[in-house]
Amino acid sequence: MGRLQDKVAVITGAGSGLGRAMALRFAAEGARVLVTDLDEASGRETVATIEEGGATEAVAFRRVDVTVEADCEGAIAEAVERWGRLDLLVANAGIGAPGSIATLAREDWDRVLAVNLTGPFLCAKHAFRAMQRGGGVILITASVAGLGGTPRLGAYGPSKAGAIQLMQTLALEGARFNIRANALCPVWTETPMVDTFVGAIGGRRADAMRERLISDIPLGRLGSPDDVASAAVYLASDEAAFISGVAFPIDGAHGAR
Ligand SMILES: NC(=O)c1ccc[n+]([C@@H]2O[C@H](COP(=O)([O-])OP(=O)(O)OC[C@H]3O[C@@H](n4cnc5c(N)ncnc54)[C@H](O)[C@@H]3O)[C@@H](O)[C@H]2O)c1
Repeated sequence: MGRLQDKVAVITGAGSGLGRAMALRFAAEGARVLVTDLDEASGRETVATIEEGGATEAVAFRRVDVTVEADCEGAIAEAVERWGRLDLLVANAGIGAPGSIATLAREDWDRVLAVNLTGPFLCAKHAFRAMQRGGGVILITASVAGLGGTPRLGAYGPSKAGAIQLMQTLALEGARFNIRANALCPVWTETPMVDTFVGAIGGRRADAMRERLISDIPLGRLGSPDDVASAAVYLASDEAAFISGVAFPIDGAHGAR
């Protein structure tokens, strides 16, 4: 028996990085997974990788833009239609936009807030409705950037702080329905998002920039997508039945300073 045996999960942004790692681990732990992403090709790649492991009945892809309410509602409805209920939502899709407050374009602020905060709200809203019948778990991928100020990520940090508040509100409103909500708060983790950030900020000194990020992490390395997936499996599983409303750092002791 897997740790998420027969649980029904919807994961957003599951075509890449952390979302893909969580989709693979959830499937390996016995969950049925609706893989969703804005990018169809990468989402289908995640599904193909899961199917190679033999779980062909337990995985499907749906294209979802988390800023579009009908897409979020449709994904939840599809999971319920396919597999009879919804147990787990991972509202993971997110984007960054480097820029300090004084230089940040209004459009970038709006775009980051739309994907990183409005997106989790829209998905959680419809997941909550489906989970009111039998309980469930909502995980939001926030960030350590949501736990304090983050220079040069002027929109990203506030969007993740908002996502943590959203999670806390869901935890309080969900408790009487046995709906738990928690936020994953990774530090810098090896995904395409970090490569983009290091390239954009570091420019020709990208390698030095990466070393600087690592030097800020006491355990001496960037996180791996699997580090985050391990935390997600635990928080999604019944082992965490009494854990709700928590912003859970996956940060190599970064926050212990
Ligand atoms: N990598 C890190 O260092 C790090 C650290 C902390 C938090 N996070 C958070 O983890 C989450 C995943 O990031 P990642 O590092 O895997 O990034 P990534 O860029 O590898 O993956 C993000 C995925 O989200 C999808 N996406 C983007 N906009 C979307 C939209 N509007 N609707 C649906 N899907 C959309 C992309 O197509 C992509 O597949 C994000 O919320 C990010 O903010 C990442």
